Amino acid sequence: MKHKKQPYRILFVCLGNICRSPSAEAVMKKLVKDAGFASEIEIDSAGILGYHAGEKADSRMRSHAVRRGYKLESISRPVVPADFYDFDLIIGMDDRNIDDLKDKAPDLEAVGKIRKMTDFAENSLYDYVPDPYYGGADGFELVLDLLEDACSGLLKQITASDRDN
Ligand code: 4NP
Repeated sequence: MKHKKQPYRILFVCLGNICRSPSAEAVMKKLVKDAGFASEIEIDSAGILGYHAGEKADSRMRSHAVRRGYKLESISRPVVPADFYDFDLIIGMDDRNIDDLKDKAPDLEAVGKIRKMTDFAENSLYDYVPDPYYGGADGFELVLDLLEDACSGLLKQITASDRDN
């Protein structure tokens, strides 16, 4: 973590901010809290689209998540220009999210903050987190499987870089 005094800030981003990124937010918050880093790492989520702004996470996503102990409490909001200054790391779920984030980034420094969630995966061969919105129960379970794996890898990376600096 580069900023020792300020919290390290991570923003998870998907298309609608009602399925994948609110789940990533909840999974990462739990991992960070359980590892004792809650005051050092801040986590939020947002959507490329503002279409679902003001809504809770999708009820199917919430019910799959709660069975694994994650309560999805975030309210959907779109990515805003200030996010590219306020956050240290901006993590999209698929290549389309990454392209859209790069289009929205105000400068090269902001582009440098953008990563893909699956780049942090340790046990999965997926190279994106598939959108579960139009599919069935399996898709929501897959999202949680991929996020648990990738968030664990992400936490290891950011806490290891803290020890190195
Ligand atoms: P998410 O899923 O990007 O994981 O939140 C979606 C939610 C809604 C829509 C698309 C994807 N939508 O088109 O409304």
